[in-house]
Amino acid sequence: MDTVVILDFGSQYSQLIARRVREIGVYCEIFAFDSDPSKVLALNPQAYILSGGPRSVYDDGAPMMPNYVLAARVPVLGICYGMQLLAKTLGGSVAASDDREYGCNEVRVLEHSRVIPQHLLNSGFDVWTSHGDKVTKTPPGFNITATSDNCPIAAIEDHERRIYGLQFHPEVSHTAHGDEIISKFLEAAAVRRDWEPGFMVNDSIQSIRRQVGGERVIAAVSGGVDSSVAAALVHRAIGDQLTCFYVDTGLMREGETEQVVSTFTEQLQVHLEVVMAVEEFMSALSGITDPEAKRKIIGEKFIRIFEREARRLAAGAGFLVQGTIYPDIIESRGKGREQADKIKTHHNVGGLPSELSLELIEPLRHLFKDEVRAVGDEIGLPHEMVWRQPFPGPGLAIRCIGDVTPERLRKLRAADNIMLDELSKADMLSGNTAQAFAVLLPVRSVGVMGDARSYEEVVALRAVTTDDFMTADWARLPYEIIARISTRISNEVTGVNRVVYDVSSKPPSTIEWE
Ligand code: XMP
Repeated sequence: MDTVVILDFGSQYSQLIARRVREIGVYCEIFAFDSDPSKVLALNPQAYILSGGPRSVYDDGAPMMPNYVLAARVPVLGICYGMQLLAKTLGGSVAASDDREYGCNEVRVLEHSRVIPQHLLNSGFDVWTSHGDKVTKTPPGFNITATSDNCPIAAIEDHERRIYGLQFHPEVSHTAHGDEIISKFLEAAAVRRDWEPGFMVNDSIQSIRRQVGGERVIAAVSGGVDSSVAAALVHRAIGDQLTCFYVDTGLMREGETEQVVSTFTEQLQVHLEVVMAVEEFMSALSGITDPEAKRKIIGEKFIRIFEREARRLAAGAGFLVQGTIYPDIIESRGKGREQADKIKTHHNVGGLPSELSLELIEPLRHLFKDEVRAVGDEIGLPHEMVWRQPFPGPGLAIRCIGDVTPERLRKLRAADNIMLDELSKADMLSGNTAQAFAVLLPVRSVGVMGDARSYEEVVALRAVTTDDFMTADWARLPYEIIARISTRISNEVTGVNRVVYDVSSKPPSTIEWE
């Protein structure tokens, strides 16, 4: 298989570059710029991509270009810092500057380029830039292929040696034609497109086996996509050396606990222990109505149970599986947290009990959500589990506004189940809605049932469309579907006599009500 090596000079976008390359069907690996050269060369890379980075090429101790890159005489694409390194190393000049150019800018394409699409010649397109330094003189043999107002040398190339530099980031979605640019570089480099996501399964299985040897491994599964795929993958690799546990908090949706149990025990034949903790959670939540207090209590309770069970099961185990995926790493880096000792529970809190001395296995840490789903499909997890909509860690507690009691959870779970059932029948759970659920309000309203007056609670239906969950719009569900859901909830769920539809976008609202 042809391989591209991405050398990371400290960019926050290196994984995005890898994702773009993989999407095109080319196998790639990321290495730190100062990795052991023999490890990189062992892959016999057909091309290198040099990432951006936060430093100036003139800083003391700034990352340097490893000698083997240009010595290999294979195609190279330098992005931002990578372009500046190429320029400096090959005899051009770079000017340091304190003014960072950050955001979207227009570049104009000056002459025919192998990597910038031909149809853009003599026109402009928007690119994402984030740099302080600029190349001020091209190295011998290079042409300037694009320019911008702030940055006269925005793209350079040397066709002969197949070396290309871009001052902007083609891997970021704000750069128009970014995918095309990466694709054209891979074409110029003549690498074969002979890789597909399913191959990740075999690679991971091999590396999990190497890491674990004959030791025992434990994994907590939550029913969510990431922990399920991670555990199933590890099970594929090491079979009965794996023990999984699932904490039943009582805050899951209708049928979810049963689905986790049947998928893992019956279908995948995994050894799964169910930890019954419904009463523990109910008593901890008793009388708590503040949303953040609910989250805190659930998170803490979960981690205590997690520690207790991990300690019990860890006797003789050497490893713990975590469903960490790449966006979790970026997010926790962004918040300045140390990733290494973080545990991703489905409540987003916690830390590994230090005395357990378990090593982490994180088979999904380089993958994006859609790639995790591709792996889940490949290893045969049920479609509903792999493609389900996001569900918050604190579960139904933050959709049960006000007191969380078994009786109120019963109403909420039943109403939610009706909503999901009707949306699923109408094929509106994928594509048409990114997240859809019911919320139980702590409001009673007057109704009429037969001849009697009722005074019962209200259910709000929430359905949104969004790509990234940072902003969202309310879904324009057909009236007939809303009507069917409403009728069924009023008829089938005792204790609810009114249903409303939430028509708020985010911002100013949020997707969840708490
Ligand atoms: P909001 O309500 O902030 O939600 O618009 C954005 C996305 O995050 C999910 N969400 C959570 N997920 N723990 C989680 O794991 C939480 O405490 C939590 N709160 C919100 C929400 O379901 C939506 O997908």
